[in-house]
Amino acid sequence: MYAKALRRAFDRAAALLLEAAGQATVLTGAGISVASGIPAFRGSQGLWDRYDPFEYAEITSFRRQPEKVWSMLGEMCAVVERARPNRAHEVLAELEEKGLLHSLITQNVDGLHQAAGSRKVIEFHGALRHLGCLECDWRWLHFKLDQSEIMPPRCQECGAILKPEVVFFGESIPDWALLEASSEAEKAGVMLVVGTSAEVHPAAEMPHLTKRAGGKVIEINLEPTALSGSLSDLTILGPAEQVLAEILLACERLQGHA
Ligand code: APR
Repeated sequence: MYAKALRRAFDRAAALLLEAAGQATVLTGAGISVASGIPAFRGSQGLWDRYDPFEYAEITSFRRQPEKVWSMLGEMCAVVERARPNRAHEVLAELEEKGLLHSLITQNVDGLHQAAGSRKVIEFHGALRHLGCLECDWRWLHFKLDQSEIMPPRCQECGAILKPEVVFFGESIPDWALLEASSEAEKAGVMLVVGTSAEVHPAAEMPHLTKRAGGKVIEINLEPTALSGSLSDLTILGPAEQVLAEILLACERLQGHA
C-alpha cells in the first residue's frame, strides 16, 4: 500500500498527462532497463564502475583498440540479447497506444522499447543491434547480439572490426535524432524523465527545452538527480516499473475506465 503523498503524486502525474492531451513525450535512460537485467552505467554496480569509460566508451579508444572495447561490448550484447521488456517499457507502449504519449526519446541502445510495442522511438544514442564499418561504410543491420564465437564482428567487405552504431563519447548525436528529439521536447506539454541520471549532454538538455517552451517535467527515478527540485515540476522517487504502472492506473481512474 502506498503512502498518501505518493498516491497524490501518481494522481498529479496522471492529471498532467491527461491535460497534455497527447502532446507528451518521455526521455528514458538506463534505469528503465535495470529490472530487465541490464545494469545502469553510473552508481554502485554500474558498468562504469567496472570499466573506465575513457578506455571503453571514447571513440578514440575504439579506433585505437577495438578488440579491447569489444571485450566489454560482447558482455553487454549477451546481457541485452537475453533481456526482455519489463512493466515500465510496457506501460510506456500502452500510454502511446492510448494516445497519451506522442513519442519516446531513449538514450538506451537495447531496443527494449520497440520490443514492448512503442512505435515512435527516437534512439538518441543509437542501437547496439546495428553495426557499421568505419573503413568502408558497410552495415550489418539487425545483428544477433549473442554470437560470442564471432566477437569482435568483422566487416564482410573489407575485414575491419565493425563498430556498433551507438554514440561513443567524442562522437556527435546524428543530426536527425537531435532535430527530432528537440522538436518533440519543445512541443511537449509534459515530458516524463525516467531512469536517467541526466548527466550526459545533449540528452540532458531535452527536459530544459520542454520547460523553456512552457511544458511540465515529471521525473521518475530511484534517487534525486540534478533536475529534481529545480527543473522538475514533480519528482517521484521509486522503481520506474512500479511508478509507471501506478500512473497508468491513475490515468484510467481519472478517465473513468477503472
Ligand atoms: N527505476 C528508476 N530509476 C532507476 C532504476 C529503476 N528501477 N534503477 C536505476 N535507476 C536510475 C539511477 O538512480 C540513475 O539515476 O537510473 C539512472 C541511471 O543513470 P545512468 O547510469 O547515468 O544512465 P543514463 O542516464 O541512461 O546514462 C546516459 O551515459 O555513458 C552513457 O551512453 C551512456 O546512454 C548512456 C548515458
